[in-house]
Amino acid sequence: MTSNQKLINWVNEWAELCQPEKVYWCDGSEEENSRLLNEMVESGMAKKLDGKKRPGSYYFQSDPSDVARVENRTYICSTKKEDAGPTNNWADPVDMKATLRGFFKGSMKGRTMYVIPFSMGPLGSDIAHIGIELSDSPYVVVNMKVMTRMGKAVLDVLGNGKFVPCIHSVGAPLEPGQEDSKWPCAPIDSKYICHFPETNEILSYGSGYGGNALLGKKCFALRIASNMAKREGWLAEHMLIMGITNPSGVKKYIAAAFPSACGKTNLAMLVPTIPGWKVETVGDDIAWMKFGKDGQLYAINPEAGFFGVAPFTSMDTNPNAMLSARANTIFTNTGLTPDGDIWWEGIGYDAPEGTITWTQEVYDKASGKPAAHPNARFSAPASQCPVIDKEWENPAGVPISAILFGGRRPGTVPLVYQSFDWNHGVFMGSIVGSEVTAAAIGLKAGVRRDPFAMLPFCGYHMGDYFAHWVSIGEAAPDKTKLPKIFNVNWFRKSAQGKFLWPGYGENIRVLQWIFERTAGTVSAIETPIGFVPELGSINTEGLDGVEENMIELLAVDKGQWKDELDLVREQYAAFGTHLPQELVEEITAIEARFGI
Ligand code: OXD
Ligand code: MN
Repeated sequence: MTSNQKLINWVNEWAELCQPEKVYWCDGSEEENSRLLNEMVESGMAKKLDGKKRPGSYYFQSDPSDVARVENRTYICSTKKEDAGPTNNWADPVDMKATLRGFFKGSMKGRTMYVIPFSMGPLGSDIAHIGIELSDSPYVVVNMKVMTRMGKAVLDVLGNGKFVPCIHSVGAPLEPGQEDSKWPCAPIDSKYICHFPETNEILSYGSGYGGNALLGKKCFALRIASNMAKREGWLAEHMLIMGITNPSGVKKYIAAAFPSACGKTNLAMLVPTIPGWKVETVGDDIAWMKFGKDGQLYAINPEAGFFGVAPFTSMDTNPNAMLSARANTIFTNTGLTPDGDIWWEGIGYDAPEGTITWTQEVYDKASGKPAAHPNARFSAPASQCPVIDKEWENPAGVPISAILFGGRRPGTVPLVYQSFDWNHGVFMGSIVGSEVTAAAIGLKAGVRRDPFAMLPFCGYHMGDYFAHWVSIGEAAPDKTKLPKIFNVNWFRKSAQGKFLWPGYGENIRVLQWIFERTAGTVSAIETPIGFVPELGSINTEGLDGVEENMIELLAVDKGQWKDELDLVREQYAAFGTHLPQELVEEITAIEARFGI
C-alpha cells in the first residue's frame, strides 16, 4: 500500500517487538469498517444497535477500570526535566523507552497489529499533519475512522514524507487457546501514555479508552502538536471553533477554550434563542491556528468526529449533538435498552424497563447506581451534525475574529469581559480555572487553575507556553487583525447559590455582545480587569428575571479581585523564570488600576 521505506521499516521493527499474529494495513473503506465491527460483534466485544432506532451504530462496555484519561500515568519525556515544566509528569526519554520496550515486547501476541494511517485536518491542508498509529485494538480502528481522516488516501498524500509515529497496545497478549476478554487492558499501574516531544513520538500502553488510545486526539493534536506549534510559530489549542451569523448575514468565527466538562460541545452547537442569529459548528474540542497570507489567524478542526460526553446530552441541552449521534455512531459505557438502543442519565426520558447498565446489571433507579458511566461517550461523525459549517473542511481554515476563555466561577468573574490587548488576553488565558468543592474531586477546595484549558494537554513547560502565546502576538503580520480576546463565565451565582445566568441557548446573547465588540458597533465600560458591557447592552429581551441580575453578573469587585490576584501570583510562582515578564506586567497593571 506504500513505498515509504521508512514507514515499512518502522512497522516491521514494531511488529518484531510486539509479535502480533498478523499485521493488517487499514484502507479506511466502508467494507473494512463493517467487517471489523462484525468481527467485534461476533467475539462479544460489541453489540449492534437496532437498525431502525440507531442505524449503523454499535455499543461497547469497557472494563470498569478503564473509563477515562489517566493523567497520573501520562508523561512528557523530554531530555531535560525542566522542559516538561511543573504541570506535567516527566520521565527521561531513554529510560522510558527502555521500560516501554519491556512492556511492548510480545504485547500483541495472539492479536492483529493494525496499521492506521490518519490525517489530523483535511487531507492535504497546509495546516494538517499525518500520523500512523499501530494498534492491537479493532475498537481503536473503528473509532479512528470516525474521529480522523483514515486509510489509504492518507498514505497516498504521505508518499515518502514524514509522519508522527504513534504506537498503542492494550497490553493484554493472548496465549494460544486463551479466551479474550470483552475489553482487554492492563492494570492501572502498567498503563503508560508517553510523549516524546523532541522526536514527535507517542507510545501508549495498557488502556483502550479514547483519550489514551485514539492517539490522534489529545496525544498528537494537543501534546505533540503544541510542541510542533511552538517550534514552527503556530497554535495547537484545546478550543472549539464556531461560526456566528448575525441577522444582517454577517458571519464571524470564534474559537473558545474551556476546561473539560464546562459545556464546550454544547456551546459549539448552540441553538440561538434570539431571532435571526445562526450558529454553525467547525469543531468541538481542538483548534490548530496559523496566520494566513492576509494576516488573519485561521483555524482548522484537526478532527473529523465528536467524542462527546453522553450523560446530560439531550434534545433540550444539545439537539445538534443528539442528531449527530442518530446513526453510524459508536457508544461506549452508556446504558443499553432492551430494544437495542442506548440510554443515559439526563437523556430526557425515563429508562425503559430492563435497561442494562454499563456494568451489565439491570438498571434500578432506586439503587442510585447510574445506567451510564458519567464519562460515557459517543463517537459521531462531524459530517452528521445538522449545523456543521460549510467551511469545516476548508483546507485553509476559517478566519478567527475572537478567542474566548472561560471556566466555572461562582464568584469574582463577570459574565463577560474583553481584554485591552493581546498580552492582556494571554494573561486572561493563563488564569482560566474552575471552582471545585473539596468533596467533588477529593482535592483542596478552591479554584483549580487550568491555564488555556491546557493543563493536561500542554506538551511542554507551561511558562514557555505562555511566552509562545506572547510571541504569536508579536509575530502577527498585522496586529490590528489579531482576534479580540474575551473571558466568559456562564456560572456566576448569587449569594443564595442560584445561577444568575440561564446559559445554554441564551448564551447567544453574550455572543452577540462579543460579535458586536469585534465589529466595533457596541461600546463598553473600562474597568481595571478589562472592558465590561454597559448595563443594558446585553440583550435580555424576553428573558424572565434576568435583567435584575445584570448588575451582579457584571460586577467587578475590588476585594474579590485582590484575593484572585493573590492566588494568581501563587500560581505563577510555580513557573519560576519561565514565566514571561509580560504576564508579570499584566498583573501589576491590574493591581495598579485597582489601586491595590
Ligand atoms: C475531552 C477532555 O475528552 O477534554 O475532550 O477531557
Ligand atoms: Mn477536550
